Amino acid sequence: MPNRFSGFYKLTPKERLLIVAKEANLSSEEVDELYKTGSLDTDLAGKLVENVISTLEIPVGIVPNFIVNGKSYFVPMAIEEASVVAACSNSSRIANESGGFIAESSDPVMIGQIQLINVNDPERTIDDIQKVREEILNVANSRSRTLKKLNAGAKDIRTRVLNDPGRSVLLEIYVDVRDAMGANIINSMCESVASFLMGQFNIETNLRILSNLTPNRVTKSRAVFKSDMIGGSEVSKRIVKAFEMANVDPFRAATHNKGIMNGIDAVLLATLNDWRAAEANAHTYYHVSGNLSLSKYYLDDSENLVGEIEIPLAVGTVGGSTNSVRKAAIFRKILNIGDSREFSNVLASIGLAQNFAALRALCSEGIQEGHMRLHARSIAASVGATGEMIEAISKIMIEEKDISMSRAASLYDEMRKKN
Ligand code: MEV
Repeated sequence: MPNRFSGFYKLTPKERLLIVAKEANLSSEEVDELYKTGSLDTDLAGKLVENVISTLEIPVGIVPNFIVNGKSYFVPMAIEEASVVAACSNSSRIANESGGFIAESSDPVMIGQIQLINVNDPERTIDDIQKVREEILNVANSRSRTLKKLNAGAKDIRTRVLNDPGRSVLLEIYVDVRDAMGANIINSMCESVASFLMGQFNIETNLRILSNLTPNRVTKSRAVFKSDMIGGSEVSKRIVKAFEMANVDPFRAATHNKGIMNGIDAVLLATLNDWRAAEANAHTYYHVSGNLSLSKYYLDDSENLVGEIEIPLAVGTVGGSTNSVRKAAIFRKILNIGDSREFSNVLASIGLAQNFAALRALCSEGIQEGHMRLHARSIAASVGATGEMIEAISKIMIEEKDISMSRAASLYDEMRKKN
């Protein structure tokens, strides 16, 4: 697919915003809202969380023409780290040459857990619980008329004895949450079911909460990166070796998977979704998948690099706090996703794009060169330089290998005097 947005990165923020606004049909009020800073009113923020004294602005960049399952997205990413947005854009350009990312998500099934403690006879307690299985599902489902109407909601229960010192019994409820993230509804279900059980049997319940590990709510994405676009098949082979290391060494796996989450968290933050839940989910997944690395790489018959990711993602498109912050709602509009599975497809693909970009840099020139270029620009901007002066100052600092606030400040002074 031809890239209608090539050169996007060379534009000013306002020019980029106007392009996105046109494509996403934003109103002029929405454009003004996005362009201004300080648009989250401190008093409104005080209604969202506690003890508020201020709000914090974070840069939001756009990955244009990010193609997943044949659809082109503008992906908003909120992040303080330089290189991430550029990296995703570059990966996207390369993947698009082979048709973009192909992704699919499972049904959105989540687990709620109820811990039963001080149990004298665990096997008998499990028997008792299984006998009232249907009642448990009914009690759980009485908490959501919406899910019931959608023929979703609590579908199954499982029970087991834990290996903890007190031999707790665990009741798990499997809930199809459709387009919700699921935390609120599952927690309500767990509390109702716990009360029901305590009314039926002489038992004590302790924890009643969803699990943030969602091995039944998983997304897979795949892309082909042509070797001749990334420095040849030698680089592709090195990327495969990098993946192989991440899959056996937990110290590398943590960094490898952190790179994946750089991309995913940034989209979750821009759309105000719970990125801590996504982190917990992703980083615990190896317990059930048996793989340390969330992604994998291999060469196809033409020696092109194939990247794949399998990642549990529990994100919603209904409920949550997105709509209470207007900018996040507009970013969601720009992203233009339908249901939660489409959202997960984009997120997993962004994670793969980000991971591929990091590995490509690490397996060729290293990441410092690119990082330093962006770092130099941000230092130049922080001493007051604007427009072309930023480029001029950062170029000199890179040539001199002296990227520092003091050098940036003296160059800025010299240039201002000359102009
Ligand atoms: C830095 O934020 C992320 C990387 O360390 C990821 C990786 O090493 O794969 C570059």
